[in-house]
Amino acid sequence: MKVLVINGPNLNMLGVREPDLYGRRDYAALVAFIGEQAAKRGIVADCFQSNSEGDIVTAIQQALGKYDGIVINAAAYTHTSVAILDALKSVALPAVEVHLTDISAREEFRRFSFVSLYASKTICGKGFDGYAEALDALVGIVGNKA
Ligand code: DQA
Repeated sequence: MKVLVINGPNLNMLGVREPDLYGRRDYAALVAFIGEQAAKRGIVADCFQSNSEGDIVTAIQQALGKYDGIVINAAAYTHTSVAILDALKSVALPAVEVHLTDISAREEFRRFSFVSLYASKTICGKGFDGYAEALDALVGIVGNKA
């Protein structure tokens, strides 16, 4: 099973960015964590991060035929991007949404997620562990063909 893990804008700033909210571990630590968790499950997980909405749309489009599923933390684009929602619908790959923080318990504008309109499951507020849970959810949806 091959999974594309997409992280959106400002997640490259983990460790520096609002550490009380997002923690003190950096993006490289997140990539390492996802790699370890994927290996434990016999999954191949490739990580992609971009600050650009269009690049995220392109990454989703290019996942078709290459990946069995997508884990996505679209970060701020979660709350604004019809284009990312449409890209997910276009490729129709199984997708699980992750947020490090609990977006339902923060500002009002973070409560709505375009990604949730497509994703089979949304995992919020569990920090890095949310990505491991998302891999488990995808295995449940896709079945591990590895
Ligand atoms: C986030 C939550 C979003 O509201 C925010 O814009 C982010 C990160 C999270 O992982 O908690 O950049 O997706």
